[in-house]
Order: sequence, then C-alpha cells, then structure tokens
Amino acid sequence: MSAVLSSSAMQARRHIVFTATLAALAGLMFGLDVGVISGAQQFIQHDFAIDDRVIEYIVSSMMLGATLGAAGAGWLSGHFGRKRSLIFSAALFVVGSALSAAAWSPGTLIGARLVLGLAIGVAAFTAPMYLAEIAPEDKRGAMISTYQLMITIGIFVAFMSDTAFSYSENWRWMLGIIAVPGALFLLGVLGLPESPRWLLMRGRSDEARAVLGKLRGDDAVVTREVAAIEEQLRIPQRGWNLFFSNRNFRRSVGLGILLQVVQQLTGINVVMYYAPRIFADMGYATSASMWFTAVVGLTNVLATFIAIGFVDRIGRKPILYAGFVVMAVGLGVVGLLMHLGMATQTERLLAVAMLLFFVVGFAFSAGPLVWTLCSEIQPLKGRDFGIGVSTVTNWIGTFLVGVTFLTLLNHLGHANTFWLYAGFNVVFLLFTWALVPETKGVTLEHIEQKLMAGQPLRDIGR
Ligand code: GLC
Repeated sequence: MSAVLSSSAMQARRHIVFTATLAALAGLMFGLDVGVISGAQQFIQHDFAIDDRVIEYIVSSMMLGATLGAAGAGWLSGHFGRKRSLIFSAALFVVGSALSAAAWSPGTLIGARLVLGLAIGVAAFTAPMYLAEIAPEDKRGAMISTYQLMITIGIFVAFMSDTAFSYSENWRWMLGIIAVPGALFLLGVLGLPESPRWLLMRGRSDEARAVLGKLRGDDAVVTREVAAIEEQLRIPQRGWNLFFSNRNFRRSVGLGILLQVVQQLTGINVVMYYAPRIFADMGYATSASMWFTAVVGLTNVLATFIAIGFVDRIGRKPILYAGFVVMAVGLGVVGLLMHLGMATQTERLLAVAMLLFFVVGFAFSAGPLVWTLCSEIQPLKGRDFGIGVSTVTNWIGTFLVGVTFLTLLNHLGHANTFWLYAGFNVVFLLFTWALVPETKGVTLEHIEQKLMAGQPLRDIGR
C-alpha cells in the first residue's frame, strides 16, 4: 500500500515540477523580451538613420503594450481561463518577435513591439497567478521567487545572444531568434492543466478535482484543498466598489502603486534597456559594451539569489534600506565619474564596477521585494484588483523611465541624469522608513486585520 502511495506521490511531484517549470518559462520569455532591445538599438539606429527620440519610442512601445496587456489580463484570465490566456500570450510572443525581425520601418517596429508588449503584459500577470494557484501552500513563496529568477535569467540570455549577434551587426536576428523559445513555450503551455481554482470558480468541480488529483497524488489533500478554495471563493472579489467605499483599501492600493513607482524610479530599467548605450557613452567600443552588458545580466541573476536566501531571515525593511544605499552610492559615483570626464582607464573601469554595484543593490532588494510586498499587502476581497493595479503601475513606470532616458541624457547631461536617479534612491530610504510595513514571518490574515482596522501602514506587519 505504502509503495503504491509513494509512487503516486512521486508521480504527482514530477507533474508539479513540470507544470511549474513550464509556467515559470513565462518569466523567461518576459526577461528575453526586456533584454533583447538594449543590444539591438545601436544597429537599428544606424540602419534606419533615426535619432534618439525615435529609439526611445521603439524601446518603450513594448512597455506601452505591456501596460495594456496587464490591464486586460485580469478580464482575459477570468473569462477564458488561465491556460487559454497563457496560450494566447505565447502565440503573441511568436508573432511579435517575428514581426520585429521583419520590420521594414521604425513605425512597423514600434507596432511589432506593441504586440510583443501585449504578450508580456498578459503573461506577466497570468503566470504568477497560475503558479500561486497550483502550488502546494508550503511551496508558494519558492515558486513565486522562481518566477522572478526566470525573469533575470531571460534578460541575461538575451544580453548574451545580442552579444553573439553583435559581431555580424544583425539586429534582425537578435529580435527574431526569441521566436524560437516562444514557439517552444507555446507547445509547452498547450499541455498545461487548467488552474483548479479557476475551474472551481466556474463550478467545474469534477475537473478541478481531477487536476488537483494529478498534482497532489493524495485524495485527502485534494478534498481539503478543494474545501479551502471553495471557502475562499465565497468571499466575493470586489474592485472599484471597494476602492471607492473603503478608505483602508484605498491605502493598500495606494501603497502598491507607490512601491512600484519606487521600484521603477530606482533607475534599474535605464540599465536593463540602455546598458550598451551607457557603456558606449563611457567611451567603450561596441564589443566591450556588449560584453559588459552581458556581465550586467549575470550580476542581476546572481544577486537575486541573495534576496531569495535572506528575505525571510533578515526581513524586508533592512534589505530595502541596504539596497537603496547601495543604489544611491552606485549611481552617485557613476554620475561623479561622468562629471569628471572619465579620461583614464581606471576611471572608466570604476564606472563599470559602480554600475554593477547598483545592479546588485537592486537585485537583492527592490527587484524581488516589491513584487513580494505587493502581493502581501492586499486584503483578500480586493486582492485581484490590488495586484492588478500595482502590476499596471509597474509597466507605466517602466514606460516613463524608458521613454525619457535618452532625452534626459541629451538635455541634462550624463552626470545630472545619474545624480537625479541617485537622489531618488536617497528619498526612498525615507519612504521605506515612513510607509513600508515589515511583513516578515507574519500571516496574511494578520496583515489584513491590521490594515482594515486602520493601523498606520508601517505598523500593519506588527
Ligand atoms: C523587476 C522589475 C522590472 C525589471 C527587472 C530587472 O522585475 O519590475 O521592471 O526589468 O526587475 O531585473
């Protein structure tokens, strides 16, 4: 009997690892599409003979598409289900990357990147939700961090592939090649089971039980989980209604928005979307700039492990303080070196090192922690709405940073632009102290109770 049980448990384990890996691949696709444009820019600019303004539009149209995709993803995944939303986004990935590679003018490239953005917006909303819905309770945190990690890996892989194609100066290959992982991802999601929670929302409880049965391999666990999900579903989700009628919910939504604005104004995406350009402006040749960019990507991946290892031990706030200090110092020194003119090799290398220092600061703090906090602070009955609003804010923030960076460089100068972002990071220390709650080791119920009782935001984790 126990042999039978353990073999079905093993099968269930294999099943869930497979399912989660596949869904986390959505994170990889996300990262690939974030990373791919930075290395391609200079070649596109040269081919189409366009100025910085048009490059900003080409970079940022993707983020605009993602904003729309994220805004529509709640409806899409509620109406058609998580699986069909993921299939839809995977198909758009493939179409968007193929169109980008074939673009014959700046306008068509902007259009293609809008399509790609729509895909990412939908996937980046649906995949973490799907992961949270299929994960066993004790694995939920780990599964969501896996998703974050996949994003950084995707960015790194794109940086590497751009570096490889930079030798032939072929931006079409850079943008087109990601259609291949896109197609594999599409094949993979076709084989995913639908989320049991969504099936239960639709009253399809037999199917939900069958899916959970395969994922868990234990009838007693399935019965318990189905009962727990049904209990949760009895709390109706309320969005705008709750927002207008409840001051405390407005506070948690507001905090989610602020956290995402803060994450974007750290300046991280200036580096993710424009690194080769920054290195070129520091005085490096194309191939050195491309390789340094690949190192940026790798640093971003590695430092994310620090967050995963320490977030539940040290707590959110100390990590955020440390991150903002590191980021302010990193960007401050880069600005200073730019100001001094970077005439010597030592100064140029120091500038690269400080930019990497900045990336480390982000990757172990605001990067993963903002996503974690945003999912922790929303009360159950307004969760979908609260998380949706903060995700859309993330993309609007990325868009604003992306569409203004080159203009800032051209108008304020390099030093002032980096100092501006360094200054933001100093202000965020204050923000963390005044408004961010410490949620380490506290249950979501506790947070909700304190929040809805009107406790100051910074106290809702106590
Ligand atoms: C976070 C940010 C995203 C950024 C990424 C870099 O996920 O939300 O905008 O590109 O980190 O690692």
